[in-house]
Amino acid sequence: MPSALFTPIELRGLTLNNRIAVSSMCQYAAENGSAVDWHIMHLGQYAMGAAGLVMTEATAVSEVGRITPKCLGLYSDENEATLKRVIDFCREYGVTPMGIQLAHAGRKGSAHIPLDGGKPLAADENAWTTAAPSAIPFGPDWHVPQALSREGLATVRAEFVTATERAARIGFDLVEFRSNPCPS
Ligand SMILES: Cc1cc2nc3c(=O)[nH]c(=O)nc-3n(C[C@H](O)[C@H](O)[C@H](O)COP(=O)(O)O)c2cc1C
Repeated sequence: MPSALFTPIELRGLTLNNRIAVSSMCQYAAENGSAVDWHIMHLGQYAMGAAGLVMTEATAVSEVGRITPKCLGLYSDENEATLKRVIDFCREYGVTPMGIQLAHAGRKGSAHIPLDGGKPLAADENAWTTAAPSAIPFGPDWHVPQALSREGLATVRAEFVTATERAARIGFDLVEFRSNPCPS
C-alpha cells in the first residue's frame, strides 16, 4: 500500500500531487514590501521540486502589518507587480502549485530582522505604531500596540480582502490567512 504522504489530496478545487508542502519562511529580503530577485531564487527553486505545494513567506496585507521593514507585502500596485514577476517565473519553469500566506503581524510588528536581533525598532529607526486587538505589548520593551476599534478591525478585514484580490490576479492557487506570523 503506498504511503499516504505520496498520494494526492484535494483541497476544494485544487489537487496536490502529494501531501508535502514547503512551509512559509520569512526571507527579510523585500524592499518596501516588494519582491526582488531573491524571491525568484527562493520560491523558484522549490517550484521546480517535487513538493505538492509551495507557500510564500508571511506576506503582509498592510505596511503596519509587517513584522519588519524587510517583510514581503501585498498592499500596493508595486508589491503586486513584483510578486507577479516571481510567480510568473515559477509558473514558467516550475511544476508545483503556489500558495500565499497573507498575514498581519499585529503587536509583533515594527521589529528588526532576526539577523539583527529581532528586537523592536527604536523611534529613530523608523519604528511604526503597531495595531492589535488590545493595547498589550508582545513582551517587555515591545511597542504598545494601538487597540483596534470595530472600525479599525473592519479596515484590517478589508485589507485582507484587497490583498486576496491581488493574490487572485497574480494567479496563486491557494491563500492562507495568518495572524502573528512566525518565526519568533
Ligand atoms: C526561517 C523561518 C521562517 C519562518 N517563516 C514563517 C512564516 O513566514 N510564516 C509562518 O507561518 N511560519 C513561519 N515559520 C514557521 C515554519 O513555517 C514552521 O511552521 C515551523 O518551522 C515549524 O515546523 P517544523 O517543526 O517542521 O520546523 C518560519 C520558520 C523559520 C525557521
